[in-house]
Amino acid sequence: MTRMHIAVLAGDGIGPEVTAQAVKALRALAANGPQFEFSAAPVGDAAYDTVGDPLPEATATLAERADAVLFGAAGTYESDLRPPEARGGHALLRLRKRMDLFANFRPVFAFPELLGASTLRREVIEGVDLIVLRELTGDIYFGQPRGVRVENAERVGINTMRYTEGEIRRVARAGFEAARGRRKKLCSVDKANVLETSALWREVVTEVARDYPDVELTHQYVDAASMMLIRRPRDFDVIVTGNIFGDILSDAAAMLTGSIGMLPSASLNAAGQGLYEPVHGSAPDIAGKDIANPLASILSAAMMLRHSLKQPALAARMEQAVRRVLAAGLRTADIMEPGAMLVGTEAMGDAVARELSAMAD
Ligand code: NAD
Ligand code: IPM
Ligand code: MN
Repeated sequence: MTRMHIAVLAGDGIGPEVTAQAVKALRALAANGPQFEFSAAPVGDAAYDTVGDPLPEATATLAERADAVLFGAAGTYESDLRPPEARGGHALLRLRKRMDLFANFRPVFAFPELLGASTLRREVIEGVDLIVLRELTGDIYFGQPRGVRVENAERVGINTMRYTEGEIRRVARAGFEAARGRRKKLCSVDKANVLETSALWREVVTEVARDYPDVELTHQYVDAASMMLIRRPRDFDVIVTGNIFGDILSDAAAMLTGSIGMLPSASLNAAGQGLYEPVHGSAPDIAGKDIANPLASILSAAMMLRHSLKQPALAARMEQAVRRVLAAGLRTADIMEPGAMLVGTEAMGDAVARELSAMAD
């Protein structure tokens, strides 16, 4: 079997802790067949503090040339307050833009084993299986002009929400394609009652829908959608939305699974290259304590196996291993319930790796 080259950009805070567990799980899989070659590179504050750039050129090149990128987390509260070029988190934005990773899939799946871990009632979240498809390279994140300037003797902060129809069309297509492979329902989320970018978004998504008569398209305003996500989450199959709305909706949707520590993601470009990362950040409040939940990172590695490395059977095996560990009652603190067994980050990673080693080819 050919060797698959994985760039590992672990970054800051709990990034290295959870990413190490995903690498451990991949190594456990490799013992049964595929060959993975891991190359680690600095990113985020970790890179800025050593080489003065949160995304060193060597790291970006490594990521571009790899078969897939496994990303941890970038940024800390301290660096978030610096100018953009000195912010750890900015590395991620630059890498997404540079690799044109426009389609960010954030699957929200309510594991039956974790229905009691959510702050939401069991009967509301039971059976939840949806995807937030977040556009990742446009919107107010990247629009110009931006900045803070002085006007009439006071400071004014400026950001620009901007979408071209080409940007909307390609993510809409990705949404219809994803829906076609599932329950054939696509909900486009915008703020077309107020924003011109959203009015265009809705128009273009509706145009694209003509090529997908088998998919049911609905539209919702983002404020109503955020309510419906909590009220009737099972109604959703695939949600397609812009960069900023998707950022916010996906963290809210995380609670349908019990914890943001359960939410993986895949960011893909038109060439099929992918970056895989948990939806959560560097979690400075729990970093270095061996208590972070590594399952979002491990489930991101499963998405990597499926989408970039074309190993669907191995992806399923990794997801199965996660299910077995949860069924056995192991829980990190964020998903802990009475009667379960509390474990740390390392021990959770070890348990998943053990399950994988035990699964025969
Ligand atoms: P966060 O996702 O890091 O943390 C939010 C809350 O969730 C915290 O209470 C944290 O302890 C908890 N949490 C997160 N991941 C967890 C896990 N795996 N297990 C258990 N609990 C977990 O968001 P934040 O606090 O808003 O941001 C922290 C830093 O991370 C900031 O600098 C932010 O800019 C950055 N950030 C980076 C990314 C990324 O790299 N993809 C994403 C979001 C935030
Ligand atoms: C995410 C994060 C990032 C974003 C930050 C760290 C730049 O919140 O990946 O969801 O806003 O996109
Ligand atoms: Mn976010």
